[in-house]
Amino acid sequence: MKITILSLFPEMFSDVFGTSMIWHASEIGAVQIDIINFRDFSTLKHKKVDDASFGGGPGMLLSVEPIYRALTSIEGYQNATKILLTPQGQTYSQEQAKNLSKKDHLILICGHYEGFDERVRSLVDMEISIGDYVLTGGEIGAMVIVDSVSRLLPGVLSSNESFEQDSFYDGMLEHPQYTRPQEFMGMKVPDVLISGNHQDVDKWRKAESLKRTQERRPDLLKKAEKKD
Ligand SMILES: C[S@@+](CC[C@H](N)C(=O)[O-])C[C@H]1O[C@@H](n2cnc3c(N)ncnc32)[C@H](O)[C@@H]1O
Repeated sequence: MKITILSLFPEMFSDVFGTSMIWHASEIGAVQIDIINFRDFSTLKHKKVDDASFGGGPGMLLSVEPIYRALTSIEGYQNATKILLTPQGQTYSQEQAKNLSKKDHLILICGHYEGFDERVRSLVDMEISIGDYVLTGGEIGAMVIVDSVSRLLPGVLSSNESFEQDSFYDGMLEHPQYTRPQEFMGMKVPDVLISGNHQDVDKWRKAESLKRTQERRPDLLKKAEKKD
């Protein structure tokens, strides 16, 4: 998969993309990430990319022209899935991560400052919010999408850390997990997990996953019921 990010702050990505699973995904060629600074596409003095809002108001808005020029400079941009990061978009979920992981090329556009000229919306296929709060820029949202999508790509995770058991994959939260020691400050690992009986372990995990989802996220179960 190819991911192209349009941002005014490319330096924000280097540590995150150079570490752990995203680094691994790049190393094995599962994902190729390119970052374009759309300031390079400004035709104005001092590479200006923002301007005041018509009608007045605080802050500066990103102009549509440099974003359009940067976007259309990307090879194959017409067929790519173009995504705008905005708090006004659809709230991001594991289901969207799964859908995006099946695409060949994602282009992520990061806003900044007070936001962007409304006409930027006409350049994209979808708008994504990573939650009901306002960030300074779209960069952290783009990192969230790249991380959650990369780990779903074939060959990125080893089979024993498969994403299929993760929370949300099948609409439920994951069951509790334990490692050594078997007892810590009086808290013991449930007997079933050290019984060696795989059928009982599976049964226990399914029941605990359901219990945990009912307790913490009943909305997920309601959503699954609606789908059936
Ligand atoms: C300070 S925000 C602008 C918010 C805008 N004035 C509004 O109220 O919708 C600057 C940029 O950060 C990004 N951003 C902020 N919050 C976000 C969120 N929850 N999800 C995705 N992107 C976000 C967007 O790209 C946005 O254009």
